[in-house]
Amino acid sequence: FSPKVLAGKAVLVTAGPTYEAIDPVRGITNLSSGKMGFAVARAARLAGGDVTLIAGPVSLATPRGVKRVNVRSARDMLQTVQAYLPERGVFVATAAVADWRPANSADQKIKKDGSGQTPELSFVENPDILATVAQSAAAQKGELFCVGFAAESHDLLAHATAKRVRKQVPLLVGNIGPATFGQDDNALLLVDAHGARELPHTSKQALAVLLIQDIAQRLGGAQA
Ligand code: C5P
Repeated sequence: FSPKVLAGKAVLVTAGPTYEAIDPVRGITNLSSGKMGFAVARAARLAGGDVTLIAGPVSLATPRGVKRVNVRSARDMLQTVQAYLPERGVFVATAAVADWRPANSADQKIKKDGSGQTPELSFVENPDILATVAQSAAAQKGELFCVGFAAESHDLLAHATAKRVRKQVPLLVGNIGPATFGQDDNALLLVDAHGARELPHTSKQALAVLLIQDIAQRLGGAQA
């Protein structure tokens, strides 16, 4: 990046899946490699940002110069995001957060008792991290610019548009799939209050650079 479009700006990124324990050895999770979020963190750092990456369980190397905090569950992720949330800057939520967690996670491994009976699982809803951050005073004042992601199987534009409004974020990024999980490339749809723009198919790292450029322009506009 020349110039360093995010020089000195705080950037907080969530990435990867969350893991919700059923018992000490089992759990439910979402499919997510974390690659897009790590690419966003790397690009934000290359743009001069002061970047913190809150990562669910993934096996990816930490981008150079990025502060990384590992978390497991959605509730861990929310707590950690709140601890590191800047007063002004950028929040990019790329994490594939589990929508639900087991209502009662067992302290000990649930054992088969030989009777053929299966355990009953019930679930409770996890907090929506992005929506929670978007409600914060800093975000509402426009000092913390919030960006969401959406992975949809169909009607991406309609779903991304609705999601942007529902979560009250200025920018929602749709994954133009279908199957982008674990891949090194993708195409993105940037949806804001005025409409949508496509970033065509390329590597996730190149897309992250384009996305950071786009975000930096929006920040510049907001401050002008
Ligand atoms: O509602 P949905 O999960 O499709 O929304 C996706 C966007 O919301 C992503 O940016 C994701 O990181 C964020 N999200 C979140 N916390 C949740 C669920 C989604 O931050 N519990």
